[in-house]
This record gives sequence, C-alpha cells and structure tokens, in this order.
Amino acid sequence: MESKKVKKDIKKALSTYRYKHSIKVAKTAKKIAKHYRINQQKAYITGLLHDIAKELSEKENEYWIEKGNLSKKLQKEENKNIKHADIGAIIAKEKYHLDNDICNAIKYHTIGNKNMGILAKIIFIADKIGRKKIPKDLKPVKKLAYENINKALLYCIEQQELKLQQKEISLHKDTKELKKELENLCNNK
Ligand SMILES: [Fe+2]
Ligand SMILES: [Fe+2]
Repeated sequence: MESKKVKKDIKKALSTYRYKHSIKVAKTAKKIAKHYRINQQKAYITGLLHDIAKELSEKENEYWIEKGNLSKKLQKEENKNIKHADIGAIIAKEKYHLDNDICNAIKYHTIGNKNMGILAKIIFIADKIGRKKIPKDLKPVKKLAYENINKALLYCIEQQELKLQQKEISLHKDTKELKKELENLCNNK
C-alpha cells in the first residue's frame, strides 16, 4: 500500500486539524515500530488511517455499518466517540484491502481490547502522544513508549480511567479486560 495515495485521501476526508494529527500519529507510530522492530511502513499507514472515519456524514456512517455488517447500536448517541474506530477498520479492509493487524489496530484505537497485538498497542499510544499539545498527564508516555509498551499502554488506560471517574463514568468493559491483562503482563516482568 502506497502511503502517498492514503495521504491524499485523508487530506480530502479530514479537517486540517485532524489531517495534521493523523500525520503526527503516523510518524510517531513509525518511530515506535522501528524501536520494536515492527514493520514501519505498516505502522505509518495505520497511523494515517486511524481516524479516517472520524468526520464522515451520518449517511456515510450508515453505509459502512451496513457494508461491514456492524451493529446498528453504533449509531446510538453513547457510541458517538467510538464508532469511528469500528467504521475505520471496515474502510481499511474494504477500500484499502489492508490486513487484519492494521484493521484491528484501527478498531481498537479508542477503547482497546485484550487481544491487541503490538501494532494495535503502538497505534493506541501514538494517538495519545501524536499531538501538538500532549495533555500534561500523558507526557510520561512519550518516554515510557520506548521503555515498555505494555506499561505505556497501562498508564494511558489508568489516566483514561481517572478522567472518566471524575465524570462518574466507568471504563468500557473491553478496556477493563485490557487493563487486567496489562496488569498481569506488567507484574510478571
Ligand atoms: Fe480516533
Ligand atoms: Fe486520533
């Protein structure tokens, strides 16, 4: 897959703000991938595409939900922030014919999943630190990402949980499962 074409597509599909974010996530993902000796080009493409579905119209959302046989529940208000991950994964598969690693990394980039592979972990983290202004609480991730990917991810999840707690919302069940998995992985090291 050629990144030039993907870049052109996301430039068309996204606002300038989100386009710049996507480029940053792609570059960050590539850097982390290099560190862990993972396919850098794959990480770059996944970073470019991770938010491809973030600014779709309702009609387009409906089209992909239908095409990908996704749950209609995704259109519910409570899923408005997470559906772009599921839909983005379908676009990566149907439109760009990308492999499962890439599709899953896009699918899991907002709430995570206990079955995340290394590429998915990299993208989740790159999404957090691939920003012009990294929130203060996430700054340690910039270093942690290169020391221990599981610890970096666990740290992101813990911060997410704290933020949600302030709003009296609990973590998504998939995120909770991931957290448990990561706690086990991190404690065994
Ligand atoms: Fe996203
Ligand atoms: Fe993003």
